[in-house]
Amino acid sequence: MRPNHCLAALVILCASATSASAIDVAPAGAAACSGCHPASRAVETPFTRLTGRPAAEIVTAMQEFRGGQRPATVMDRIAKGFSDDEIKAIATWYARQKD
Ligand code: HEC
Repeated sequence: MRPNHCLAALVILCASATSASAIDVAPAGAAACSGCHPASRAVETPFTRLTGRPAAEIVTAMQEFRGGQRPATVMDRIAKGFSDDEIKAIATWYARQKD
């Protein structure tokens, strides 16, 4: 194996090791949601669960809360504090939390 091939193999190894051991870190803002919508099924909650829900469903609900099209007691105000990118990142992360 020529040296540049070794290097390429090493890069691939490192990249896969990183993704395999990566912790699914919650995106910025998700902690503001998980007090009411827990990230784990092990936590009791009177609120709707978001774990494992399709991301698109969460994004639509948040946009409707923000725009005032969906009735709410607190979510209309909370949704106003988040940009589209933040909502998408939080929704994608919740969709991945299956337990
Ligand atoms: C203070 C508690 C609280 C916090 C914090 C909170 N929620 Fe909610 N969430 C609620 C309540 C209560 C509802 C029901 C609608 C309402 O009354 O506002 C709800 C409803 C929802 C729904 C609609 C679920 C459905 O199926 O109808 C989504 C999606 C949602 N919240 C996402 C979020 C996200 C994302 C965050 C963080 C940015 C968040 N919530 C933070 C209490 C909370």
